[in-house]
Amino acid sequence: AGTGKFFVGGNWKCNGTKDSISTLVSDLNSANIESDVDVVVSPPYLYIDQVKSSLTDRIEISAQNCWVGKGGAYTGEISAEQLKDIGCKWVILGHSERRHVIGENDEFIGKKAAYALNQDIKVIACIGELLEERESGKTFDVCFKQLKAFADSVPSWENIVIAYEPVWAIGTGKVATPEQAQEVHSAVRDWLKKNVSAEVASSIRIIYGGSVNGSNCDELAKQEDIDGFLVGGASLKGPEFAKIVNSVT
Ligand code: G3P
Repeated sequence: AGTGKFFVGGNWKCNGTKDSISTLVSDLNSANIESDVDVVVSPPYLYIDQVKSSLTDRIEISAQNCWVGKGGAYTGEISAEQLKDIGCKWVILGHSERRHVIGENDEFIGKKAAYALNQDIKVIACIGELLEERESGKTFDVCFKQLKAFADSVPSWENIVIAYEPVWAIGTGKVATPEQAQEVHSAVRDWLKKNVSAEVASSIRIIYGGSVNGSNCDELAKQEDIDGFLVGGASLKGPEFAKIVNSVT
C-alpha cells in the first residue's frame, strides 16, 4: 500500500435480492472495520435506497454506472443528479463489463466521469486490458489510452480513484500476481506524472480489481503502488469482504 488512505470498494454487480442484501448489510454492520480505510459498496441501483437506509454510515455507497449528462428522455438511465439526490456519493465508470459487454467507448466514459464529478459524485474510474492485449504486449498502451480519455475530460483528479482491473482476472479466479499488478500501478502513476501532474500522481489512489479474495489480499496490499481493491464476487460475502477491507493492517 502507498501513501494515500487505503480504499476498498465492493462491486455487487447485478446480484442480490431484498433478502440477500439485507443479510449482507447486517454482516457489514457487525463487521469490525479498521479506522484507516475508506470503504464503499456498490449495490444495483434498485437497492441503493434499501442499503442507504440500513447500512452503517461508516461505509459509503456507489452506483455502478450513470447517464452521461443531464437527465430527461433517456429510458432506462439514471442521472448523476438523481444519485446525488438519494445520497449516493460515488459512481463506478468504465468497468470492463460496460466497456466490453455493453459497448461503451473511451470518449463516452470520459464524458460520464466529467459530468458526474461536476455534480459532486466521486468517480471510481476503471481501466484494464483484455487477455489478448496482454499477450501481445499492449497492456500499457491500452491502459494509457483509457487513462487519456479520462484526462481529456475531467475537470480535476481530486475526487477520482483509479481501478486497474485486468479483464482476464475479473470473475475468473485468475488473480494478477502482486508483481503484475504493481508493474501496471507504477506505470499508471508514471503516466499521470508525465501527463497530468506530479501532485496528482503521488496523491491519487490506484486500486486493483480482479479475483481479489480473503486469501490473496494481504500479499497484494503489500505492494507499494496498490492503494486498495475493487472487489466483485468476494464482496457478496460480508465476513470475507471485511477481511479484505482490513488487509492493509
Ligand atoms: O469491479 C470488480 C471486479 O470486476 C472484480 O470482480 O469477481 O473478479 O472480484 P471479481
